[in-house]
Amino acid sequence: MAYQNLLSELTDGILTITIHRPDKLNALNRTVLEELDSAFSEAAQDPSVQAIILTGSGPKAFVAGADISAFMDFSADEGAALARHGQEIFRRLEQSAKPIVAAINGFALGGGCELAMSCHFRIAADHAKFGQPEVNLGLIPGYGGTQRLTRLVGRGRAMELMMTGSMIDAQEAWRIGLVNHVVPADGLMAYTKQILQTILAKSPMAIAKLVEAVDASGGEPAEGYLQEARLFGACFGTREMKEGVTAFLEKRKPAFR
Ligand code: COA
Repeated sequence: MAYQNLLSELTDGILTITIHRPDKLNALNRTVLEELDSAFSEAAQDPSVQAIILTGSGPKAFVAGADISAFMDFSADEGAALARHGQEIFRRLEQSAKPIVAAINGFALGGGCELAMSCHFRIAADHAKFGQPEVNLGLIPGYGGTQRLTRLVGRGRAMELMMTGSMIDAQEAWRIGLVNHVVPADGLMAYTKQILQTILAKSPMAIAKLVEAVDASGGEPAEGYLQEARLFGACFGTREMKEGVTAFLEKRKPAFR
């Protein structure tokens, strides 16, 4: 199937899905989310696909977040529904029986960092940058970031990252366990494929069972995701959220106080 905002290429059983909206740093609008969901469900059904690499188009960004330009007119209910929808898509990805690895080729911010965290593991190019900058917008992460980041790097580090909204570089992301490896940008895809080749030589049945077992270890807190979506929605329409989003669109710093 042809997609508007995704490119895909299948080589030696490895499907590379590239989010392709480079002029908007691959930001996740509704179309990208829907297309990702379809592409992953197609890949799940397709016996010629044995593993998936998710990456972003262009040298600058993996994904720079959810598309902020769509946020302005959302009600609290619409905000919460957007979060639930994204959470469900990311959850399906996380539960994939086939290995899914994020090859992070630049900014992985907000929804981009959350998308990367939904993959089974992450490899970063050395210029990649990570962060959950939603507080700059008067928002919180809404695609599972409050839950997954906390589990991946621990509560204190997750709190600091989300409260400051600061970006960290690839080396720091590696140090805190957000990514497994940092490699030169021009070797990112080859390195990621090399790890997948090792995995593809193993029993696919066992790999699928492994994903299920690891998933059970997290005690996936359904209530946590629900609460995140509710609280994300509750930010919408507030004065601070309007100021944060307007400031981003006007390319200035927000004045919250
Ligand atoms: N949503 C919508 N558009 C976005 C976007 C997003 N999350 N991230 C970047 N873009 C757009 C910019 O508006 C700009 O569009 P324009 O050329 O039409 O003005 C284009 O992508 C390029 O981004 P720009 O900001 O000019 O690049 P930069 O190199 O100066 O800065 C970032 C890069 C990543 C630091 C900056 O784009 C940024 O802070 N993005 C938002 C990150 C964020 O808050 N994500 C969480 C969203 S919930």
